Amino acid sequence: MDYIYHEEVYKLKERLNEIKEEALEQIQSAVDEKTLQDVRVYFLGKKGQITEVLKGMGKLSKEERPVIGQLANQIRDEISEALETKKTKLEQAALEQQLEEEAVDVTLPGRPVQAGGPHLLRKVIREIEDLFTSMGYSVAEGPEVETDFYNFESLNLPKNHPARDMQDTFFITKELLMRTQTSPVQARTLRKHEGQGPVKIICPGKVYRRDTDDATHSHQFTQIEGLYVDENIRMSDLKGTLNVFAKHMFGEDRAIRLRPSFFPFTEPSVEMDISCKICQGEGCSVCKGSGWIEILGAGMVHPNVLEMAGFDSNQYKGFAFGMGPERIAMLKYGVEDIRHFYTNDIRFLKQFHGV
Ligand code: DAH
Repeated sequence: MDYIYHEEVYKLKERLNEIKEEALEQIQSAVDEKTLQDVRVYFLGKKGQITEVLKGMGKLSKEERPVIGQLANQIRDEISEALETKKTKLEQAALEQQLEEEAVDVTLPGRPVQAGGPHLLRKVIREIEDLFTSMGYSVAEGPEVETDFYNFESLNLPKNHPARDMQDTFFITKELLMRTQTSPVQARTLRKHEGQGPVKIICPGKVYRRDTDDATHSHQFTQIEGLYVDENIRMSDLKGTLNVFAKHMFGEDRAIRLRPSFFPFTEPSVEMDISCKICQGEGCSVCKGSGWIEILGAGMVHPNVLEMAGFDSNQYKGFAFGMGPERIAMLKYGVEDIRHFYTNDIRFLKQFHGV
């Protein structure tokens, strides 16, 4: 015979099924683990909805209780399982989102690195230094604030010598000045050698003159001085050296010529020209119709310069030369205004990054 349940059993069964549906619905729509946790507490917790139902079992008979008890357990299990499944899903989704956010597209082009480079003038100076050091020269340096003695007197330019006017000078005091040339490094280095050759140096550095700046003049520019003193140095050594230099800097097809000139510290003195590349010697606007372009000054070291520095001018001879790297860079790279070297317009600088 079927057992006739107490009215209360149906109520509790219904309530349990309601709880199940509510719980599953809330689990379904939960968007994070915190919500899941709240759902768990609300339905399954010590003071939760299911416990609430179980409390109502007091009114049931001995036979009825297990019926509700079993159903309550079953629903608790179902809710627990749904909570677990949902929790795993949320974790999975969170992981996927993180992976997506942190994904690196290795096929994207990289960001270009803004690399600087040496200044054109620095490159030309380095190229000249490299050439001469490969021929056994050392690089020597001297101060930019120089004494009148080294800048002029030791180079055979006594006070009131008219040739001083060739170089308009920034004086600091009567005896101190901004050097007008790198030639004083010759005199300083010779002194250091105390009359003993050989001396074989090039001296790059900044020099200063009271000039008004324009396309070909600057109150501050650079020079490279060369000096080779030894026994048996002759004019032909100078000519050979300058020939190597000119061809290295401007091309094997260039010819040089030496013209007589005057410098107080050399005797004889010359100026060196190279044949014009543009017109191959025919005459054009670059060489002003002559077919030749002036590059530097040079000569055989004056006996007075050797003697003042403690060298015996009968035993030792030498040659010297002096050039302006700006002029060389301008000719080599077609730079039309010397001021480009100092104003640091990035568009100018960038043009020579690869050269
Ligand atoms: N110092 C000279 C100048 O500034 C350049 C020069 C010419 C240097 C002849 C030399 C030389 O050593 O021999 O104009």
